[in-house]
Amino acid sequence: MYDPALDRRKNGRFRILYMDFRSFWLRLILRRKDTPGATPKAKDAAAGGHPQAPHKGGPGFTTGVTKLDDQHHEIREAILGLQKELGRGSAPESHLPTLDALLQRMNDHFRYEESYLEHIKFPDLAHHKGEHDRFRSDVSLLRERLADGDQGVSLDLSSFLFNWFRRHTLEEDATFAKRERPR
Ligand SMILES: [Fe+2]
Ligand SMILES: [Fe+2]
Repeated sequence: MYDPALDRRKNGRFRILYMDFRSFWLRLILRRKDTPGATPKAKDAAAGGHPQAPHKGGPGFTTGVTKLDDQHHEIREAILGLQKELGRGSAPESHLPTLDALLQRMNDHFRYEESYLEHIKFPDLAHHKGEHDRFRSDVSLLRERLADGDQGVSLDLSSFLFNWFRRHTLEEDATFAKRERPR
């Protein structure tokens, strides 16, 4: 039965909850506007169907703190770059420099984010730090497998990075995005 309220949710700001993985990847991560089911924005339609430059954060990735949003964007781009590289099928250990550069970038971001959370006296800081620490320890196991030349690690690493970053940014970082910021 047609439910207009459900239809509104599916096409509105909660559409991310109803999206399959492929649509999520194409539309929100790769920012493709030509995927099936994509609804063009009124502004795009008015511009003759030419999409405007996408917001670099993407829906759901915006905390409202410019520096954090910029860092999230850079990390997202770096993960996409590594995924492309891993997809080429060269020797696993040849991807270590790219992975290490990504992990350095993420560590710098975690430190910056944690100091911001201290600054705003975020009550769940210990939990948030714990999430960052768990990432460091989980990814270090995958890094070891890459360094050992494990052929099966590419897919595991690729999906772990993508899924962790997506979940952490949308669910964990989103919790402090809503808080009032100090002046
Ligand atoms: Fe975080
Ligand atoms: Fe973050």
